Amino acid sequence: MSAAIPELKQFDEAELDRVFTGLEAEVAAQARTLTGGESVETFRLEWLGRKQGRLGQLSAAWLKSAPVEAKRSLGVRFNRLKAQIESLLTENVEAGGTGDPAQVLDVSLPGSAPRIGAEHPLVKTMAEVVGVFQRMGYSVGLGPEVETDFYNFEALNFPPNHPARDTQDTLVIADQEQKPLRERLLMRTHTSPVQIRSMLEQAPPLRLVIPGKVHRNDAADATHSPVFHQVEGLCVDTRITFSDLKGTLDHAMKALFGSAVKTRFFPSFFPFTEPSADVQISCIFCGGKGCRKCKHSGWIELLGCGMVDPAVFEAVNQRREQMGREPVYDTRKISGFAFGMGVDRIAMMKYGISDIGLLYSGDIRFLEQFS
Ligand code: PHE
Repeated sequence: MSAAIPELKQFDEAELDRVFTGLEAEVAAQARTLTGGESVETFRLEWLGRKQGRLGQLSAAWLKSAPVEAKRSLGVRFNRLKAQIESLLTENVEAGGTGDPAQVLDVSLPGSAPRIGAEHPLVKTMAEVVGVFQRMGYSVGLGPEVETDFYNFEALNFPPNHPARDTQDTLVIADQEQKPLRERLLMRTHTSPVQIRSMLEQAPPLRLVIPGKVHRNDAADATHSPVFHQVEGLCVDTRITFSDLKGTLDHAMKALFGSAVKTRFFPSFFPFTEPSADVQISCIFCGGKGCRKCKHSGWIELLGCGMVDPAVFEAVNQRREQMGREPVYDTRKISGFAFGMGVDRIAMMKYGISDIGLLYSGDIRFLEQFS
């Protein structure tokens, strides 16, 4: 390495040219030896480093002592030298370079491949569930997460002040009290309001799967999250019976968990289905023998379902008439079934996840396991 500060005899143009030409040649020679990474950084520090950089030292040594009439041409030369160094740095950083401008772009090198993300286990599971029903001829329906009381409750046969509303732990939007109850906004507590929205838009026959995010005022623990996911199903046509419901869900559970899985239906209650049932599947961990996962019962409860309550069809017809549409959900001619399942639980079972919170943590170390 040559002296940090070359000798400058006087400040005339010829002498400045001589010294700066030398410096520029030195910079160019150094740049040709750069081999990327560390060498580029060393080069940068040598010339532009804040404390020991040669450019700083040069200007400290020369600019102050220069006569007024020479300051301008000295400054121009400093700027040119600095620009030369900076552009060499850019080239070398971009090319990871050799210093030789002719070689900074080697098109024969393999490109830098972008890191490809992976589907979130929840999204993957939701798509799997939806796929099972699509293969049975169902279409996909969607609805908003911010709902009105009408769609989330009233049309689904939850009367005002009915205790069944309490079981939903609703998160409501603030400052809605001045509106009539049915217009007040809330976070949907289930995907069932999309049943109503779909029937207002479409006439029977109807076969729909509705995946989506739902919200409840639940304290978070290993099995509860205030945000979770459901897949809803709705089938409406002439002569739909409870055995259609049983056959459809039995097939879906076998498609999702394997053909050895058995289902059983228990009486239950939902305001919008009658009769209602809870569906259990034989434990996928012990095959039904009984283990810790199924609390030694051999069965795991997975979803709610039932035959669409005629009161729901009535609410739909009434609203359709208000909208100037035909009240085509004639309870003497048509019937239907509906079901709703929690996607998070299914994903947790399928992937052996013990804490629902992990699904919402955004922790890349957790998510990478599913890529
Ligand atoms: N919406 C119900 C719930 O969230 C599930 C359900 C859907 C039950 C459709 C019956 C029919 O608990």
